[in-house]
Amino acid sequence: MEKLLELKNISKSYAGITVLDNIGVELEKGEVLCLVGENGAGKSTMIKIMAGVIAPDRGGSITVFGSSYDRLYPRQAKNLGIATIYQDIDLVDNLTVADNIFLGSELRKKNGFIDTKMQEKNSDELFRRLKISKIKGEMMLSDLSTAQKQCVQIVRALKDEAKVLILDEPTASLGEEETRILLDMVVTLAKNGIGIIYISHYIDELFKVGSRLLILKDGRMVDIKKTSETNAEEVIHAMIGRDKVSFYSRKYFPPGEGILEIRNFSQKKTVHDISFTVRQGEVFGLGGLVGAGRTELVRMIYGCDKNRYGKVVLNGKDITPENPKDAIKKGIFMIFEDRKRDGLFSLRSVKENITISTNEKKEFIDLKKETRIVGNSVKTFGIKSSGQETEVVNLSGGNQQKTLIARCVLDPGTVYIFDEPTKGVDIGAKEEIYKHMLDLAKEGKYIIIISSDMPELISISDRIGIMREGRLVDIVQAKDTTEGELMRKYLGF
Ligand SMILES: Nc1ncnc2c1ncn2[C@@H]1O[C@H](COP(=O)(O)OP(=O)(O)OP(=O)(O)O)[C@@H](O)[C@H]1O
Ligand SMILES: [Mg+2]
Repeated sequence: MEKLLELKNISKSYAGITVLDNIGVELEKGEVLCLVGENGAGKSTMIKIMAGVIAPDRGGSITVFGSSYDRLYPRQAKNLGIATIYQDIDLVDNLTVADNIFLGSELRKKNGFIDTKMQEKNSDELFRRLKISKIKGEMMLSDLSTAQKQCVQIVRALKDEAKVLILDEPTASLGEEETRILLDMVVTLAKNGIGIIYISHYIDELFKVGSRLLILKDGRMVDIKKTSETNAEEVIHAMIGRDKVSFYSRKYFPPGEGILEIRNFSQKKTVHDISFTVRQGEVFGLGGLVGAGRTELVRMIYGCDKNRYGKVVLNGKDITPENPKDAIKKGIFMIFEDRKRDGLFSLRSVKENITISTNEKKEFIDLKKETRIVGNSVKTFGIKSSGQETEVVNLSGGNQQKTLIARCVLDPGTVYIFDEPTKGVDIGAKEEIYKHMLDLAKEGKYIIIISSDMPELISISDRIGIMREGRLVDIVQAKDTTEGELMRKYLGF
């Protein structure tokens, strides 16, 4: 087998804290090497070293096609044929798809101006080759769904004839169907000889695409195995140090008296006259394919986007928010799908991020108490950082998400909306998040959750509203439904 890439004695520490410890691994042509491990285990750090984005500590080497380097630089890695797709979408919203794809390597006319037409034509050709029909080079990126943006990232990476493709949680924002397409794409690319490094918190995906699994724990390699010689239980055990059942089993309790009414929400093209009620203490799930209009709906409920008709009514009282600030004042909280854009203050500390909305309402802040409260949140959600003062930008993706959840559950609200709350969160920490959501429900709050993870949606919700093409087409009891039934309803069979 041809060796594409090899890491030897690779370590990385930040201010004396080791986040990667003596990693040695090779990637062969046509294989899919999967990296697994809890949030903060060092997966993204490892691939950033391969991509040349960060330098490892001295003493190790990276060998690419037979040549060894102490470290790589981004452009160099790219020129060597290493293409990387990161965890958070890193595209520019107010440019076209084609401009994004060619950003940094623009095609130019003889007179030096960017050749927009040519860039669009080439982009369309790339999409065509990958059988992605809905995205066109001329579209504005801001008009694309998260899943479509993910496709744009992959196309951008592949345009330079990459030989090594690194994917950091590529399916975190994708629905079932799109995930299948992406996994197929990964298998095809590997068959064509590309070496792939694949990170995901969805263990079943790893078994669908992976050749080998590398398990990381606290920056150390605890095991590396052929996928055919291990199984999910073994991997989860090695990763979190205990067994875990795949369905979270919740307790159901009778709802309270109160009623939250979502009345007549509409948005041109994306949401068509949606109404439903949530009973006090109920977790109301919203299911559907990516693009069914779920995010658009909850954003309106939260007052983000213009809402001409819809009303939010709590026990007969109109609490429709004018804007997010007004929503918070009225006790409505929301966790956004895109934590980078809508939720976290990445240059502020973990502490500030957790307490920001509770502090807003106080005149005096009891610092000791604050440290204690934040300490509790850090402990319950297992937020891994070098301390409460660490800037959130330095946290791993999953730990950023946990920080956002920690803030939300501290807020003394009435209505909580979660859009893909466990995106990027490891399998152990997910349970902790579910537990907290159910605690909120038990306290008599109203919960609306969007999730593209069907087992999650089924196991956490009381009822599931199914959206298809902007309409609420059905409502089912979660405990009586199955993944198969949901999928049929999502698709409209
Ligand atoms: N610039 C930095 N300064 C300090 N610590 C950092 C920095 N970048 C990363 N870390 C720490 O390194 C550790 C590993 O982070 P990494 O992003 O590699 O984790 P991960 O395995 O990708 O986790 P996740 O599943 O949450 O994405 C984390 O504890 C993180 O806080
Ligand atoms: Mg990561």
